Amino acid sequence: MLSITALSDTNKSRSNCSQRMDKITTIKGFKDILPDETGKWQYIEENARRIFACFGFSEIRTPILERTELFKRSIGESTDIVEKEMYTFTDRGDESLTLRPEATASVIRAYIEHALYAKDNIAKLYTIGPMFRRERPQKGRYRQFHQINAEALGIEDPRIDAELILMLTHFLDQVGLSEVALEINSLGCIRCRSDFKKSIVTFLKGKEKDLCEDCRRRITTNPLRVFDCKVQTCAEIIKDAPGLLDFICTECSDHFEKVKDSLQLFNIPFRINPKMVRGLDYYTKTAFEVTTNLLGAQNAIAGGGRYDALVKHLGGPDVAGIGFAIGFERLLALVSMKDKQFSDVPQLFIAALGEAAQKKAFVFCNRLKLKGIPSEMDYTGKSLKSQMKRADKLESLYVLILGDKEIAENSAELRNMRKSTQETVELDRIEEIVIRKIQEG
Ligand code: HAM
Repeated sequence: MLSITALSDTNKSRSNCSQRMDKITTIKGFKDILPDETGKWQYIEENARRIFACFGFSEIRTPILERTELFKRSIGESTDIVEKEMYTFTDRGDESLTLRPEATASVIRAYIEHALYAKDNIAKLYTIGPMFRRERPQKGRYRQFHQINAEALGIEDPRIDAELILMLTHFLDQVGLSEVALEINSLGCIRCRSDFKKSIVTFLKGKEKDLCEDCRRRITTNPLRVFDCKVQTCAEIIKDAPGLLDFICTECSDHFEKVKDSLQLFNIPFRINPKMVRGLDYYTKTAFEVTTNLLGAQNAIAGGGRYDALVKHLGGPDVAGIGFAIGFERLLALVSMKDKQFSDVPQLFIAALGEAAQKKAFVFCNRLKLKGIPSEMDYTGKSLKSQMKRADKLESLYVLILGDKEIAENSAELRNMRKSTQETVELDRIEEIVIRKIQEG
C-alpha cells in the first residue's frame, strides 16, 4: 500500500512535471520578431544604412551590457531612466552592470576607449539595436525596444545640427513616413542653464505641496527634470513655468538662430517648443523631437540633441557632439506597406514526381541557390496537385514540373505562375533557360 507521504510525493512530482510542461513565454514588455515581420525590419535597416552612409556615417556596434556607472554619469542620476527604468544587477564578480537603456553613452564610451578622436577629429557613427527600459508596457512602449541611433562628434558648427535633422527627416520620408512634426528647442549651455534652474526653483516655491514626491525632491537635485514628470498635477504646474529660451546666452542664441536658418534652407518645417527639455541630462543647446499624432500616447518617433560637454564629462577630450535615436517599433507601426513587398518569394519551385525526378530536382534546386536564385522543392513526394498548391502558397514566380516521363524525354514543363502560361523546355539546357527567364522577369 502506498503511504500518504509517498502519495503526496507522487502528487508533488506530478505537479512539478505539469509545471515543467507549462508553456514558457516571453517576459512582459519583450517581443519576438517573427519571420513575417523581419522583412519590414530589414527594409527599414537597409534604408537607414544606405542613407546614413550617404551622409558620411559608419556603423559601430557596442555591447548591450555596460557598467552601471556609465549611464549614471551620462544620462544623470536623477533622471527617470536611471532612477526607475534601468535593468541593473550585480554580476558574479560583484560588479554593478546595466542593460543599456540607450546607445549614446555606449557610443561615447567606445569613442573615448578606442581614442577614435585621435584617428580623425570628426567621427560620424550610427548603431542599430535593442535597448532596455523597465517602463510600464503599452502600445508603442516596450521594455526591450530597438533604436536606430546616429551620433556626429567633433563638429560645433550649427549646420551639422540641421544636417542631422535633414538626414532624419529624409530617412523617415524615404521609408514612407511624411506625416510627422518636428519640434526644436535650445537647452543652452551649462552656464546659461544655471540661471534657468534658479528661475525654476523660484517658480516652484510655494507649489511644493501640489507636486509629487519625486518632483519635490527634484527641486533640489535637478529642477529641470520636473518638466519630464508624467504626473498630471506636476504637468499642470510646470506648464506655466518659464521657458529655457528666455535664459540662453548670446552664443547659444546665435547657435539656435543658425540652426533655424539652416533648416529653412531645406524647407524643413518645425515648431519651437520652449518647454521641451528631453529626459536625459547630457543635452546642451539644440534639442529636437519628431512626433506624430498617429500613435496615441507614445507619440515620439525620434529624439535627439547636442551634448557638447558629454565626451569630456566621461573622461575624453573636449569634443562637441550631437545625435538622435529613432524608436524602431514606433516607426514600424507607421510604415504601412504591403507585407508582400518585404518577404522573399522563391523564383522557382520544382514539382518533382518520381524518384529519378526528385533526385534531379534536388541537385538542380540547390545549384540554383548556389547561383543566388531562391528555389524550393518538395521532399514529401506528394501529388502534383498538392505540390502546385505549395508553390502557389509560397508565391513562386515559376514552377518547373518534372516527372520520370519528362526525364526519359529529356524535357520539363516550365510554368509562369503570374501569367499562367506554360512551355516545354529542353532538360539539358534547363539551368540556362530558367536563369534567363527569371532575369527577364
Ligand atoms: P530618447 O528620447 O530617450 O532618446 O529615445 C529615442 C526614441 O526611442 C524615442 O523617441 C522613442 O521613439 C524610442 N523609445 C524610447 N523608449 C521607448 C520604449 N520604452 N519603447 C519603445 N520605444 C521607445 C535617446 O535615447 C537618446 N539616446 C537619443 C540621442 C542620441 N540623443 C543624442 N543622441
